[in-house]
Amino acid sequence: MSVWAVLVAAGRGERLGEDRPKAFVRLGDLPLLAEPLRRLDESGWIDQIVLVAPPEWEEPAILLAEEIGASKVSACVPGGETRTESVRAGVAEVPEDAAVIVVHDAARPLVSEEVILRVIAALGEGFDGAVPGLPLTDTVKRLREGVVVETVPRDELVTVQTPQAFVAPVLRAALTALRVESTQSPTDCASIVEANGGRIKVVDGDEKLLKVTNRADLERVASWLVSDTSSS
Ligand code: CTP
Ligand code: MG
Repeated sequence: MSVWAVLVAAGRGERLGEDRPKAFVRLGDLPLLAEPLRRLDESGWIDQIVLVAPPEWEEPAILLAEEIGASKVSACVPGGETRTESVRAGVAEVPEDAAVIVVHDAARPLVSEEVILRVIAALGEGFDGAVPGLPLTDTVKRLREGVVVETVPRDELVTVQTPQAFVAPVLRAALTALRVESTQSPTDCASIVEANGGRIKVVDGDEKLLKVTNRADLERVASWLVSDTSSS
């Protein structure tokens, strides 16, 4: 059974507001992309990796993979205008006989072996996909034009992260179906599979899978990285 990772790193990083794409902003001693790439490469659960780079940054991405000794990168392709288009470009490079596709945001550098195992293991229970989720701590309200319509029961809600694992043909079929009937831009892959009737399990997420969106997130992840490195 082969497990392919699609690492999406093609975003512009507009909210971070640096002079380069988020994947190439410095985190510790290297561009941010190095951390999630190294972690996926070292994972015992991942066989091959497709890297989705910002358009015109494919070569620096390949050089970075070489620099850190990542040996599982099978292809590096340019991403698209939206996250979904970037996922599509990555999935297109995964061979037909792959069993599982794990999609991960490069913007979540601190992916761990434990969470990769949790999402992949859930597929063995018969789910089409699995995502890491965290409980909410704040109260959540639904609004219409700034006025509260309802307070949503918090125990029914989670926030979800990546890595997200899917039965490969199920993800492919969902991406194809989306192309036909929708123009909206989903923010994760599970919602694409859900929309096509797939059953998704939520497993325990990890606070350290924080998505780097702004400067404060970057600093937080950088501080976790320092404490990780010094404790190992
Ligand atoms: N992503 C991508 N292709 C896009 C948009 C996003 O591969 N066209 C990837 C990003 O590189 C990131 C992940 O999807 O790893 C989550 O996206 P987000 O956090 O929104 O990153 P950016 O789109 O780069 O940031 P911003 O929205 O602030 O521009
Ligand atoms: Mg974005």
